[in-house]
Amino acid sequence: MECVLFDKYPGLKKHIAWVPLGSFPTPVRRLAKLGEEIGCRNIWIKEDDKSSEYYGGNKVRKLEFILADALRKKKRTILTYGGLGTNHGLATTIHGKRLGLKTLLLLVDQPLTDHVQKNLLLCQHFGAQLCYVRNTIGAALNTIRHFLTKTALYYLPPGGSSPLGSLGFVAAALELKRQIDAGELPEPKYIFVALGSKGTMAGLLVGSRLAGLDSKIVGVRVAYTWLANERSTARLANKIISLLTGYDEAVPTIRFKEEDVSVLHDYCGKGYGFATSEGKEAMEILNTTESIRLDLTYTAKTFAAVLDLIKSGKIQGDAPILYWHTYNSVDFTRTIKQECDCRQLPKSFHRFFEANLIPYLQ
Ligand SMILES: Cc1ncc(COP(=O)(O)O)c(C=O)c1O
Repeated sequence: MECVLFDKYPGLKKHIAWVPLGSFPTPVRRLAKLGEEIGCRNIWIKEDDKSSEYYGGNKVRKLEFILADALRKKKRTILTYGGLGTNHGLATTIHGKRLGLKTLLLLVDQPLTDHVQKNLLLCQHFGAQLCYVRNTIGAALNTIRHFLTKTALYYLPPGGSSPLGSLGFVAAALELKRQIDAGELPEPKYIFVALGSKGTMAGLLVGSRLAGLDSKIVGVRVAYTWLANERSTARLANKIISLLTGYDEAVPTIRFKEEDVSVLHDYCGKGYGFATSEGKEAMEILNTTESIRLDLTYTAKTFAAVLDLIKSGKIQGDAPILYWHTYNSVDFTRTIKQECDCRQLPKSFHRFFEANLIPYLQ
């Protein structure tokens, strides 16, 4: 199996490590039933939820580059970060384990939900070492401590959004271009995607330019503004370009400015991990019409933005719209019910189960 990025730029192959972890291309399809319901016939989905039978969602594409790099550098443990219910941490744990790598997760507070509890249980179940660090200061101090006391650690920024990890979404845009050329979907006028640690959007921005796509990439901010904004996304996109041009001069030197990045800021609600009522509605409508599951932290807010823009007439009725689905759809209900026990978690995590201990002890 070959990565589409190396097909386009073969010169990159000897410099950049890559390991196949997922099932690509992910499908694209028209959301016909939803379209009927909301009066918008040209709405499409890119189903990255189906990117892996082990654990899908947007992280798989990033991990194909990151974990390969860790292996090439002979690292044994990935040290990374997230909120208590981190999807990125879970994806890293599951896919890292497939390659014989351990994962050390430094976790900060986020609003406690059922989803957070489930992801904590799954991270423990799949063998992550969990370390509760409360906030970003705790994360910084614990990072220093671990790097001073452990060997063969691989540093992975939150969300897997290093320039290297973001190459997964450069490749994703090239993959989408092939699907458009093959007539599987029209070229989208808009592509909507959640904007958290930015690697997904920044990779798509770079990849769509390289692929010659005219689609406008629109990020729906779901994290705090200091982290997720136009300037920081442009900066990451430029770092991705520098990485690529440094290895292969066939890659054109493109520069992104803040003005080139479109971010919607009005759908985040109170902050990262806080559910919004519009998000809950979006979750409900997509589930009833298309049986697609959204999560409240990222994808429900993103889809709420899409629905709002359609309803308010801010995007034209006929323009093809692509919603990039980034949430995993592998169902772990049975694993959680039958194989997880919150008492196995380190003591510092027990408090997150006190209010709701019983369901997880069955
Ligand atoms: C389900 C889901 N969607 C979207 C994102 C955001 O992607 P990024 O962090 O690359 O901006 C994440 C990040 O963790 C995620 O878990």
